[in-house]
Amino acid sequence: MRRKLVAGNWKMHGSHTTNAELLSGIIGSGPYGCDVAVCVPFPYLSETAVTLARSQIRWGAQDCSKHEQGAYTGEVSVGMLVEFGCRYVIVGHSERRQFHAEGDQLVADKAKAALSRGVTPIVCVGETLAQREAGETESVVKRQLSAVIHTLGHCAGEMVVAYEPVWAIGTGRTATPEQAQAVHALLRAQLRAATPQADAMKILYGGSVKPDNASTLFGQADIDGGLIGGASLKASDFVAICRAAG
Ligand code: 13P
Repeated sequence: MRRKLVAGNWKMHGSHTTNAELLSGIIGSGPYGCDVAVCVPFPYLSETAVTLARSQIRWGAQDCSKHEQGAYTGEVSVGMLVEFGCRYVIVGHSERRQFHAEGDQLVADKAKAALSRGVTPIVCVGETLAQREAGETESVVKRQLSAVIHTLGHCAGEMVVAYEPVWAIGTGRTATPEQAQAVHALLRAQLRAATPQADAMKILYGGSVKPDNASTLFGQADIDGGLIGGASLKASDFVAICRAAG
C-alpha cells in the first residue's frame, strides 16, 4: 500500500508570527501516519528549516528555476533550495501556469532540474472549468503530464503528481471523490505506460480539501494524499486533514 502524503501549499501567505504558530501546532499534534510537508514562500525557508529540523515534517518550495545559476533576476535555483534542506518543490501549479504563462515544457524542465538535485517535484496538472465543460479534461491532463514524462525519461517514477482541477482551487467547490478518482485512474494508467514504478507513485488531489471531505477523497483507490491550500494555513484544519490520511 502506498503511504500517503499531505503537503500544505501556503501560497503567498505567512509572517514570522503566524508561521511559528502554525508550525508549532503541526509539530505538536504529530506524529502522523502519513508523510507531511509544508511548501512555504522562499523568504521563510530558513526559519522553517530550523523549526522543523528535529521533526518528521518535511518542507519544500512552491517553484524553482529550470536553470542552475546565472543572470535570471528574481529566480531561485534548486541548488539554493537544497541548501535549505528542501525535500519537495511544487512545479506547474495552475496559478503559475495562469499568472506567469508557464507552459508544459517549462514545467517539465523545472521538474527535471529538481530531480537532478534530489528534490522531489510535485507536478501539478488540472483542467479549467471551461475545459471540463468542453469534455477536454482527459486530453488536458494527459498533455500536461506527458510533457513531464518525456522530459524526465527513466526518472519519471520519482516525481509526485498532483491533480488540481482549476475550478476547485480556492472556490470551496471540491471535485467529488468519484470525479477525482476518475482522473487519478487516467493519470495512473498514463504513468503505467511510462514507468514500472507507476503503482508506487503518489498522485495527490488538490482543490478545496477540508477536514470534512478529506477522508472520503483519500479513501479513493488512486488518491494518495492531498495538496492543501487554504486549509493548510490553520493548524487544526491541516492536522485534521493529515489524520484523515493515516
Ligand atoms: P485550496 O485548498 O485553497 O483550494 O488550494 C488548493 C491548491 O491550489 C493547492 O496547491
